[in-house]
Amino acid sequence: MATCMIAPSLLSANFANLQADLEMINNSEADWLHLDVMDGVFVPNISFGFPVLKHVARLCEKPLDVHLMIVNPEKFIPEVKALGAYMMNVHYEACVHLHRVIQQIKETGMKAGVTLNPATPVAVLEDIIGEVDMVLLMSVNPGFGGQKFIENTLKKVRDLRALMERTGASPLIEVDGGVNLDTGKRLVEAGADMLVAGNAVFGAPDPADMIHRLRNS
Ligand code: DX5
Ligand code: ZN
Repeated sequence: MATCMIAPSLLSANFANLQADLEMINNSEADWLHLDVMDGVFVPNISFGFPVLKHVARLCEKPLDVHLMIVNPEKFIPEVKALGAYMMNVHYEACVHLHRVIQQIKETGMKAGVTLNPATPVAVLEDIIGEVDMVLLMSVNPGFGGQKFIENTLKKVRDLRALMERTGASPLIEVDGGVNLDTGKRLVEAGADMLVAGNAVFGAPDPADMIHRLRNS
């Protein structure tokens, strides 16, 4: 049996009663809470912003894993820090000066994660991998919950493990999109440390039990 860490994604929660879903998360084995911020520019959808997240942060007892699917994410480093976030993830594809953005995030005391879209190869991380605390591999095209897992992600997890061995870097490997009991198990076998799960958790009859099962799949 493989074990991994689980970050439920709030994107699939009941937005009309976030408090109830946050209480479920607080009382579950979830390791982090994953928060998907979208701008309708970098991705073709808009989710929630900082006025909402301020209240989510107040009610959530788990570390916050903020995934910014926005252009110019460096503009919002102070807002993410003000939430008390543990991890701030920015997209490789959204940062012209990725090295600078990573340093700026780390200077605040937050952990810095770099996210890759499905079409972006792991090889682009060669000269930044030693600087990041986490690599977030998208296993769907970002913007929506409930999409089908892209199988090539398993190869990317293995490529990332190989790059880490070759360079001696040791960021966490997180995977986001289409994670369920089947894909989650295969991702952990390939080398993933942390799985994001939206639909699989919030669409389950017993979400807390699903978090437990995903963790031990
Ligand atoms: C997609 C988001 C994901 C999303 C995952 O753009 O980054 O975090 O919530 O949802 P599922 O697990 O339903 O694919
Ligand atoms: Zn996400």
